[in-house]
Amino acid sequence: MTDTIIKYLGHSAFYIKTGECGILIDPWFMHNSEVKFDIENELITHILITHGHGDHFGDTVTIAKAKNPTVIAIFETGLFCQKLGINAIGVGMSGAVKTDFGTVRFLPAFHTNTLPNGEYGGIAASILIELKNGVKIYHAGDTGLTKEFELIGELYSPDITMLPIGGHFTMDEKEAVLAAKMLKTQNVIPMHYNTFDTIKANVEEFKADISAIGKNCIAMKANQTITF
Ligand code: NI
Ligand code: MN
Repeated sequence: MTDTIIKYLGHSAFYIKTGECGILIDPWFMHNSEVKFDIENELITHILITHGHGDHFGDTVTIAKAKNPTVIAIFETGLFCQKLGINAIGVGMSGAVKTDFGTVRFLPAFHTNTLPNGEYGGIAASILIELKNGVKIYHAGDTGLTKEFELIGELYSPDITMLPIGGHFTMDEKEAVLAAKMLKTQNVIPMHYNTFDTIKANVEEFKADISAIGKNCIAMKANQTITF
């Protein structure tokens, strides 16, 4: 189990490099000069999008035109990408796509989904990545607390989980602790906080609360990389 890295690109954006694949999730970072990620010099083979809101759909069009990755999203959001001339796959809820790095599965998120042009983008999603090396990474997207997490925990118990903790648009720190429990995940990476005044979160408190339930909290700074 080597050769896989996760880099945090701020907000809900992550880059995963595994084997010959480079995967961006919710790539919204090009406006942010603090984030060091030059798309021209990086391997980008896939973009996974949880939903069409600007802070998640983000720089998809620019990156797709520059690097021609495969974009995977929920059906209507995928269709929207295809209409823009992007190489995209649209899937339904619970739909799984086999890729060169493993399986990408679209699961529920308790949230809305509007596309950049104001149209409905289909149901908002969370994304489970099952890497070929067996590691399961779960990106919860934007979501409120929901009992769906229990089922996801029962079926998949992800090794690493990215959870929104900022409140206002998503669940907050306290709810995210409950989500981590339900998901039966061992490692939690908080996201979607402190980007705007409306989503301020106390990450130290969150770390302590996650530790208190016997789990590991990795509060990543922008540009930070973890290897496993
Ligand atoms: Ni959203
Ligand atoms: Mn958001």
